[in-house]
Amino acid sequence: MSAPDRQNTRITLAKRPEGMPVASDFTVERATAPTPGPGEVLLKTLYLSLDPYMRGRMSDRKSYAAPLEIGEVITGGVVAEVVASENAAYPVGTLVTHHSGWQGYALANPENAPLPIVDPDNAPISTAVGVTGMPGQTAYFGLFRVGKPQPGETVVVSAASGAVGATVGQLAKAHGCRVIGVAGGPEKCAWCVDEAGFDACVDYRDPAFPAQLAAACPDGIDVYFENVGGAVLEAVAPLLKPTSRIPVCGYISAYNSPSDAVLEAPDAWLKRTINPELETRFFLVHEWAGEFGEATKALGAMIRAGTLKYRETVVEGLENAPEAFLMLFTGANAGKLLVKVGDREKA
Ligand SMILES: NC(=O)c1ccc[n+]([C@@H]2O[C@H](COP(=O)([O-])OP(=O)(O)OC[C@H]3O[C@@H](n4cnc5c(N)ncnc54)[C@H](OP(=O)(O)O)[C@@H]3O)[C@@H](O)[C@H]2O)c1
Repeated sequence: MSAPDRQNTRITLAKRPEGMPVASDFTVERATAPTPGPGEVLLKTLYLSLDPYMRGRMSDRKSYAAPLEIGEVITGGVVAEVVASENAAYPVGTLVTHHSGWQGYALANPENAPLPIVDPDNAPISTAVGVTGMPGQTAYFGLFRVGKPQPGETVVVSAASGAVGATVGQLAKAHGCRVIGVAGGPEKCAWCVDEAGFDACVDYRDPAFPAQLAAACPDGIDVYFENVGGAVLEAVAPLLKPTSRIPVCGYISAYNSPSDAVLEAPDAWLKRTINPELETRFFLVHEWAGEFGEATKALGAMIRAGTLKYRETVVEGLENAPEAFLMLFTGANAGKLLVKVGDREKA
């Protein structure tokens, strides 16, 4: 029987965005999906994860990660199904995660780098690029290895209802901390308190935000898990103690700045303006790549026990990825932002 003729849709970088990306920064291409060679597998994308870091790859600003080339498929993590295999360890039907990027099909060679297997019994498979995958691992290791919270301490987390932030808050809460979220708008703040069990959540869009944050943290802040930077960081800074720990996970408020703007990272800003001795550093989740399995299992167990709540915003269709990506910067996403790209062939 001949192999089915699979049409691959690929979204590539047409030009580097200036500020917020627009449709003309991307090209939608169609081609026949490739056929696996010896040792290779063909992966069909089921879910594509949309993440803030992708904005950095579209720019040629100096960064820890090399920029995408013009014409290259936009980078991205996916949950995928093996739909053709020349590798006995990965038979057709196997579910994996991979950095396939913004496309419907991709070849991978597990002999070069093993593909993480997705266990549907751990948690719903979409979470393998969400709260049990990279964003969840970021929360887990960033909080415990860099933030080092102690029971009874006050932990503040920004982008609190998002994929990373909501997980940070619930892990800190389960650890015995007092948890204050910072999020955009009353609906997101209510979710953090009513569903995720935070002690309080403050809306940074409210003009009284700095005073409200101070009122929610009467003993100051022991751990500030930084996701956004900008005005939120400025309101947090006076509430820090000499003993505070500040894991700098990201600072999304600056990601659409002009490419020639000189950006100061939150850890550098805090050391320069508040206290050069503060325990703060920017971390990358890949520092703990050898331990990802531990976090995935722990987070999956919490989901099954009902102690880790999460939300997903799922947009249908790969061609809608460029527009959906903007939700991360307008705050229109509620929880992990995903694109549903295709259905399983082998259910
Ligand atoms: N260091 C690492 O290894 C690593 C790994 C993964 C993620 N990250 C970082 O973690 C952070 C959260 O990522 P995520 O995937 O969990 O995204 P997310 O929180 O699910 O989505 C992004 C959220 O950021 C908030 N936001 C956007 N612009 C903002 C602004 N100008 N000021 C304040 N808040 C703003 C919005 O929420 P509101 O509606 O609440 O404003 C938006 O929903 C990002 O900074 C990302 O770069 C770092």
